[in-house]
Amino acid sequence: MALPPIFQRDIPEEASEALSADHAAARLPVGAPLPEAALPSDAAGRLRGILSEAASMPADPVRSSDSLRLRDGHQRALTDLRLSVTDRCNYRCVYCRTGNGGEQFTELPIAHYLRMVRIFVSLGVEKVRLTGGEPLLRHGLLDLISEISRMRTAFSGTPLDIAMTSNGHLLATMAEDLKRAGLARITVSMDAVDPETFARITRVPNSFERVRDGIRAAQRAGLGPVKINCVLLRGFNDSQIEAFAEFSRREQVIVRFIEFMPLEEDRSWSPDTVVPMREIVERLNAMRPLVALPAHHASETARRFTFDDGLGEIGIIAPVSEPFCGQCSRVRITSDGKLRTCLFSQLDHDLIGLMLKGATDDEVISWIQKVVLHKEARHHIGEPGFLKPSRGMVHIGG
Ligand code: 5AD
Ligand code: SF4
Repeated sequence: MALPPIFQRDIPEEASEALSADHAAARLPVGAPLPEAALPSDAAGRLRGILSEAASMPADPVRSSDSLRLRDGHQRALTDLRLSVTDRCNYRCVYCRTGNGGEQFTELPIAHYLRMVRIFVSLGVEKVRLTGGEPLLRHGLLDLISEISRMRTAFSGTPLDIAMTSNGHLLATMAEDLKRAGLARITVSMDAVDPETFARITRVPNSFERVRDGIRAAQRAGLGPVKINCVLLRGFNDSQIEAFAEFSRREQVIVRFIEFMPLEEDRSWSPDTVVPMREIVERLNAMRPLVALPAHHASETARRFTFDDGLGEIGIIAPVSEPFCGQCSRVRITSDGKLRTCLFSQLDHDLIGLMLKGATDDEVISWIQKVVLHKEARHHIGEPGFLKPSRGMVHIGG
């Protein structure tokens, strides 16, 4: 397959070795002390305090009034928090990273993420998705998950829905620990089922087998049904649509095709690179008749389908051809502690700066309430005057 020039880059030779080293560093047994080396000395003491506070916290009292929920200026309830725990990644997917290093933002101690999550949960967040970069590279990830799993939603007192988006490279050996820590489900990014194309996309050799084994391990560990995210790029991996459908049917995973958005480090996006939902539906339907499935809830981003024999599930996420911003329930925190109200925001809001100045929970809450009032109504992809966001996907978290 001929690659557009922007995608013709070599797999770095050292990538393979670096990956195994990263893995060893990423794992901390549940309950192990968190690394404090990166903290200023007074913060280390506070970290212990916050962690034991979080650990001994009783289930939050259930709030009775829905009017206390965090809402933006368009009356959308913000129930879905995406927390990036690192913007490091062991892959350099062609549609995401330049492959030449790129920017690197700092990471916060786990205790700071926990405080942020706790505050958002008190405001009505019910679902927390851990993202990156590649979250499995992050020290203390299991501790973070097990602490979050002890929190309860503010309005119904139920456990939070804790999910993660990962590239799956380290999943085979971590799946069981993740489940034990309290992770409910996992989405794995996977942009080809043909091993050669996959390695060209990730720029890491033998990555397909690793990720496929990771997916199987996650299914066995009870993190399923695993969702697979596939970003389709015209002329590059759009030949994989039918093969992905077979993969969904064979492996019993949910495959979700995502339209490519202008969120890459490079400036490679153009409307021609997008494979629109209509085309994906037509191709799948030609393969075998598609049957639409109902949405699980109003803010669901994927249109869901199965085939006429009920085997396989396909989701199509079409932010470009059919934007779903009207139902958006998401806020994002970057690995360096900035609050973002939209993937396409031009500005970050300095949440960690406020916390480090010593703001109380109540002060942080009123600041958040003000910031989210200005959450963008929608994105403007493809419109004249569209401005690229101030950060790419890898530095925001999907
Ligand atoms: N457009 C659409 N999806 C993207 N992702 C990363 N970059 C883009 C982009 N430019 C996907 C990843 C991951 C999820 C967080 O977002 O594949 O699965
Ligand atoms: Fe939400 Fe912004 Fe994405 Fe639209 S573009 S769905 S408003 S995060």
